[in-house]
Amino acid sequence: MKWLVLALALVAPSQAGLRFGCSTLSIQRLDPLVEPGQVPSQHLHQIVGGNTFAPTMPDNTSAVHIGDKGTCTTCFFSEDFSNYWTAVLYFKARNGTFHRVPIYDNADLEGNIQGGMTVYYTQQDFSSNGNQKITAFKPGFRMTVGSPTIDSKAKSVAGLRFTCLASKTTRFPETAAFPTAPCAAGVMAEHHFPACWDGVNLDSPNHQDHMYDTAQDSGFAPGGPCPASHPIRMPQLAYETLWDTRQFNDKSLWPTDGSQPFVWSTGDGEGYSTHADYIFGWKGDALQKAMDSSCMFDACGNGKPLLSQTVDKMNACSVKDNVGEPTEGWLTSLPGKQTLHKRANVFHA
Ligand SMILES: *[C@@H]1O[C@H](CO)[C@@H](O)[C@H](O)[C@H]1NC(C)=O
Ligand SMILES: *[C@@H]1O[C@H](CO)[C@@H](O)[C@H](O)[C@H]1NC(C)=O
Repeated sequence: MKWLVLALALVAPSQAGLRFGCSTLSIQRLDPLVEPGQVPSQHLHQIVGGNTFAPTMPDNTSAVHIGDKGTCTTCFFSEDFSNYWTAVLYFKARNGTFHRVPIYDNADLEGNIQGGMTVYYTQQDFSSNGNQKITAFKPGFRMTVGSPTIDSKAKSVAGLRFTCLASKTTRFPETAAFPTAPCAAGVMAEHHFPACWDGVNLDSPNHQDHMYDTAQDSGFAPGGPCPASHPIRMPQLAYETLWDTRQFNDKSLWPTDGSQPFVWSTGDGEGYSTHADYIFGWKGDALQKAMDSSCMFDACGNGKPLLSQTVDKMNACSVKDNVGEPTEGWLTSLPGKQTLHKRANVFHA
């Protein structure tokens, strides 16, 4: 007698979450996702992650996988050759010159990480996957969130926010625009990506339509269920960048009209153009293994199940500067943005 064995494909939900530091890989005018091959790109970015970052990178149609090509990464998890980037924050002085705002490391990370960002891959939220399988991104996957052309609160994207830091551990309130008063411990920029995938496209012409955002007002709040159009729940990817504004907090340096002095490298002085880019580059099935495990944060390192590395190794990884323009010191214009000089050569008869 034959037994009919019903194999029930049980999805075993688990609670796992990654939160890790990545030091700065480079600060230069490149955007291999939105402006591939273009040197320089339109505005300056700060980039973290693997050293395959270049003006032209393998895209969603390439057989070459970034995770197999990278030889070093600025991220704590050493199998992560993904690239993560955002615009760069500048301070605009009363005399009209610009100075880049330094980045410093977040609370509760390994010490001495140089610049960079904190990256999160959570599930439904910090403590639950909502009883769903979390499917890791695939080789060739990329996406963006936000847009350099967004210019109002009405058009701002939930999950793209700023926090005025009283200390490195301040998390609320979050605002869609830059804080309007000096922040004692700097300004944190938060970028939460959508987490629902259409299951087919690794990219889309605007780099966003293959994903769907269920984020609520606060980025780390549990997202609603994925819609039928984008049924696959992926990791909730988020970045935090701590812009160290402390040297610019003296109100005597701020504009006399009462406005705030910080400006994105896009030229945006309100903050709404905040945006972020992601190119997946984890080696093999490392990210899926982490999502299927039940480890939290740093405890996912040391081979349990992810490989990790020292901060010295993170800080030592970098890529070459393809543009070679000044980005530091007092600049008369933002990199790539022409200042409209007032005509000085007006001769009187
Ligand atoms: C412009 O202002 C900044 C900040 O006050 C100052 O450090 C810099 O020297 C000034 N530059 C010029 C050309 O006056
Ligand atoms: C690849 O990306 C392009 C946009 O750059 C998109 O039109 C196309 O659908 C994508 N294909 C896949 C399989 O991801």
